[in-house]
Amino acid sequence: MAVRKILHYPDPVLMEKSVTVTEFNEELRQLAEDMAETMYDAPGVGLAAPQIGVLKRLVVIDCSSNEEPNDLIVAVNPEIIASEGESVEEEGCLSVPGFWASVKRAEKVTLRYQDVVGNTHERTSDGLLGVCMQHELDHLEGILFVDRLSPLKRSMFKKKYMKMLKEREQNAAEA
Ligand code: NI
Repeated sequence: MAVRKILHYPDPVLMEKSVTVTEFNEELRQLAEDMAETMYDAPGVGLAAPQIGVLKRLVVIDCSSNEEPNDLIVAVNPEIIASEGESVEEEGCLSVPGFWASVKRAEKVTLRYQDVVGNTHERTSDGLLGVCMQHELDHLEGILFVDRLSPLKRSMFKKKYMKMLKEREQNAAEA
């Protein structure tokens, strides 16, 4: 197992579409383990494969907030097969550090996905877990939560974030 490097916005890999997983082999299980370790280490409640530079349809999610037992979901080729209602929650992303914003999503979603050996599962969730599922699935389409903001808020984000990146680079250069 290994903690992998998380790519940050505006890395172009984060804007790419991921491909369907067809081989349920040891390599896939290793990737899923590394992703879970990387998510817990960050710490975060979800991580999609493209965030570590792997363009495969695989996400890991755990919204149990350190409760025991944990609730790790490893979802291969996930798709939302039903959704209802509307909710607006504040979101952040390990690939967009230091920035949070309210995003409109469905209130309740049903996720169909495969596990690492290829068996199919379904799970219906609302609340944080439902939001997290929708956020992670967006990553597989190359969509970040900031892409779902209004044009005005999005341009404010870009200005603020790029300024922050610049300051970080300057600080690093001076250190
Ligand atoms: Ni994210």
